[in-house]
Amino acid sequence: MKNSFSSLRLNLATTSLDWVMEHTIKHSLSLKNAVTLDELQPHNVPQSPIETLYIHIPFCHTLCRFCSFHKVKFNEHIAREYFQALRQEIRAVLTQGYRFNRVYIGGGTTTILEDELINTIEMIKSLTSVREVSCESDPIYFKEGNPHLLKGLVDRMSIGIQSFDDKILKASGRFEKFGSGLQQAEYVSRAIEVIPTVNVDMMYGFNIQTPETIANDLAQTIRLHPDQITTYPLTIGIGKNSKKAACLAGQANELWPQFLAVKKAMSEHYVMEFPWTFSRNYGKPVKNKYVLDGEDCFGVGSGAFGRFGEQFRISSFDIPDYINRINAGHTGTCYTKPLEKKALLQHHLMMMMGHGVLDNKLLKNHTGYSLWQAFPIEMTYLLSAGALIKQGDQYHTNTQGQFIALKMFSGFLAGMDYLREQAREFPLSMQNSPSSYRG
Ligand SMILES: C[S@@+](CC[C@H](N)C(=O)[O-])C[C@H]1O[C@@H](n2cnc3c(N)ncnc32)[C@H](O)[C@@H]1O
Ligand code: SF4
Repeated sequence: MKNSFSSLRLNLATTSLDWVMEHTIKHSLSLKNAVTLDELQPHNVPQSPIETLYIHIPFCHTLCRFCSFHKVKFNEHIAREYFQALRQEIRAVLTQGYRFNRVYIGGGTTTILEDELINTIEMIKSLTSVREVSCESDPIYFKEGNPHLLKGLVDRMSIGIQSFDDKILKASGRFEKFGSGLQQAEYVSRAIEVIPTVNVDMMYGFNIQTPETIANDLAQTIRLHPDQITTYPLTIGIGKNSKKAACLAGQANELWPQFLAVKKAMSEHYVMEFPWTFSRNYGKPVKNKYVLDGEDCFGVGSGAFGRFGEQFRISSFDIPDYINRINAGHTGTCYTKPLEKKALLQHHLMMMMGHGVLDNKLLKNHTGYSLWQAFPIEMTYLLSAGALIKQGDQYHTNTQGQFIALKMFSGFLAGMDYLREQAREFPLSMQNSPSSYRG
């Protein structure tokens, strides 16, 4: 009886959270007040390094049905032109005096042109003293490429597998290019031999998954011994891709038992960093862990977002337009938007929930507000949903709280999707952009 009451309470809480998040996203991530920007602003260069330089590579061998990231089907000629422009943009940013602690190269598929990726990382390493380089890749690179060439250049590689179940690979459009689950397991093992830190991305929330098949999938992943495993809840988003993704998704109420299955499957050999990222708990400590720290981030490349200070920055989503901008001596960032204090605080709340601790003192040091001053409605909601346990000046998330954090993270992914959707509609910033390149 007690169990069915708490699951009803959680169900009500997550349904209302979905509704609130959709409204919050539409309000705080609207790009209606974005302004154009053509030159880097030297007076804006911060004194200390920005935590992350984010580099976007928007090309893929195949376009998966669930994916709403910014990418187009690979074309070698365009991709080579793109990498050249990208290096030019990075050089310009460094010449302006921007400094970074680490580099995250995301996509799309960053390994799609190995020589270009290597040139880009080598250039960055020759001009900066970044402490860590992370990349994202599809699994087929570890069959068709030469990953040993990345030794000394890439510290952490995140490989998208999603599932070892061939039915899911076929339904999402990945089987044909990346092979069967069994073959992909072999590619992950090859990656683990050469890359210092390997993360495997898995997904759940597909309509043909059950808690049992998810547990099976994760058991196969765990047997490969990756350093980290990220378990993404399938997020439908609000953009053009959402219909395709929705056809693959299960019912909203199936996610809770699936999350419990994920937690249980991971509990023996992995520790939860966030309700969606786990690190192995055996062997030497994991280096170059993925950490969601909310630090500032500067984005370069087409389709990159950046946030530093209280500004949100958006680059051109049209690849030829981006290349033309760079060749004409402009910045890759073409729009900026001021971020409201409320939106920044809400991002902070999502991160504290992800970390599992809401700490009054830390929040006050960071923002000047206590938990109840910053989040009166949110705290009432979280306590009435039974998601938090009070311990002195802190609140800790329990399993329900972790699930709410996961839903917040999924809302964050949907928010990014909403931003991409709006940014794609922006007018081209350069004249004469040949639209034949567009994906
Ligand atoms: C941008 S992809 C890059 C990885 C690489 N291209 C690959 O798929 O093999 C990074 C990860 O985002 C996750 N992802 C993509 N679309 C998603 C969606 N709609 N909902 C949740 N996670 C998603 C997938 O797990 C994917 O591996
Ligand atoms: S999931 Fe990866 S490979 Fe598939 S379309 Fe998205 S970025 Fe490309």
